[in-house]
Amino acid sequence: MSRIKKIAVLGAGLMGHGIAEVSAMAGYEVKMRDIKQEFLDKGMNMIKDSLQKMGAKGKLKEPVDKILSRITPVLSLEEAVKDADLVIEAIPEIFDLKVQTFKECDKYAKPDCILASNTSTMSITELSKATNRQDKFAGLHFFNPVILMRLVEVIRGQNTSEEVMKILVEFVKSLGKVPVRVEKDVPGFIANRIAAPTSVLLLGIYEKGVATPEEVDAKMKSMGQPMGPFELMDYVGIDTQYHILKYYEKTIGPDYKPPEFLEKMVKENKLGAKSGKGWYDWSAGRPQIDLSKASEKVNPMDFMFVEINEAVKLVEMGVATPQDVDTALKLGYNRPFGPFELARNLKDVEIAARLEELSKFYGKEIFKPAKTLKEGKLAKMFEKFGYT
Ligand code: 3HC
Repeated sequence: MSRIKKIAVLGAGLMGHGIAEVSAMAGYEVKMRDIKQEFLDKGMNMIKDSLQKMGAKGKLKEPVDKILSRITPVLSLEEAVKDADLVIEAIPEIFDLKVQTFKECDKYAKPDCILASNTSTMSITELSKATNRQDKFAGLHFFNPVILMRLVEVIRGQNTSEEVMKILVEFVKSLGKVPVRVEKDVPGFIANRIAAPTSVLLLGIYEKGVATPEEVDAKMKSMGQPMGPFELMDYVGIDTQYHILKYYEKTIGPDYKPPEFLEKMVKENKLGAKSGKGWYDWSAGRPQIDLSKASEKVNPMDFMFVEINEAVKLVEMGVATPQDVDTALKLGYNRPFGPFELARNLKDVEIAARLEELSKFYGKEIFKPAKTLKEGKLAKMFEKFGYT
């Protein structure tokens, strides 16, 4: 029997409301905390709308009201966490804000309460240092929309205990989701880290005028991706993307510095779906991307090569196995294939050659090929991990 019964979710935004919703659906008592009543009201409305959609399709085991009655919106942090067995933080991606919040959680939560962060990128070890319970601190990284995406990354900080990792893996399964253990705490973990250089490539394509966001999105959608990559950036939030890039710039390197136009979009409140405008106009719902705009100027293989490259680097660093990488990308981003499933049908030296060209054209070191690709040793890597 799991010792997790009561959950506190900090933040009622895009991720927080979804985490509260799936936890309540799985039978947990949830307190959802935000700093303003209007944020709580908005979060509760999003949960209600989403549950009604699910209910109408017969996908709920209980009536909407019963599930909703398990979620209590609160403004006080102390009230939210004081009797929780697990706290899941889903506040904005600002390191100092998270540190301050975790300090308060540590003060008010029960000694055996587990603290988890839904951060998209940040070091779990560094965040855990805000508390006196580093062994009971881990990453629990959900994907947007939480209700539909099956992956949850369970991230071990340097001091996270194995017992806590096991409890969180079981918790994720109890939500009906698929846990992937991330054994090394690197910026971006698995799925987001692999997608990180792709955002740099996208912003480069836009900045250099290679193609417009719609031309890129039309091309990628016509290749079977559920959303175009610019549409997805809007869906996740331009502010979130901006904070993520700032963090990577600091922790991985200067190639990730967010371009000025992205900062301007944040300042002008062009945050994507949540503010009604980003790359696209969302005021009437999801943008209608005109697939006839798919442009030959966009080479979909470039996106794949950049992802394969980062995936190989992660395996070289010992963060994950090729199998886990494929699972993470397929379930975290709803992709039909994982990067290694694609790579095994390609020639590694050809991938490396194109990566050299991209690195030169965009002036980015991060596109330079990983050692394994450069040396033509991908098959050896697969062999080592029994990847067939
Ligand atoms: N609640 C309940 N149901 C919902 C819903 C919600 N919040 N959102 C969508 N749905 C339902 C729709 O009603 C629809 O139901 P129907 O098939 O019965 O009509 C169904 O889901 C599919 O929705 P749509 O028809 O609107 O559109 P799609 O077929 O494109 O599916 C999607 C939507 C699942 C979001 C799909 O576009 C997708 O997989 N996109 C990629 C998402 C992704 O990559 N997420 C990861 C982002 S990165 C991240 O989160 C990490 C973080 O750290 C930044």
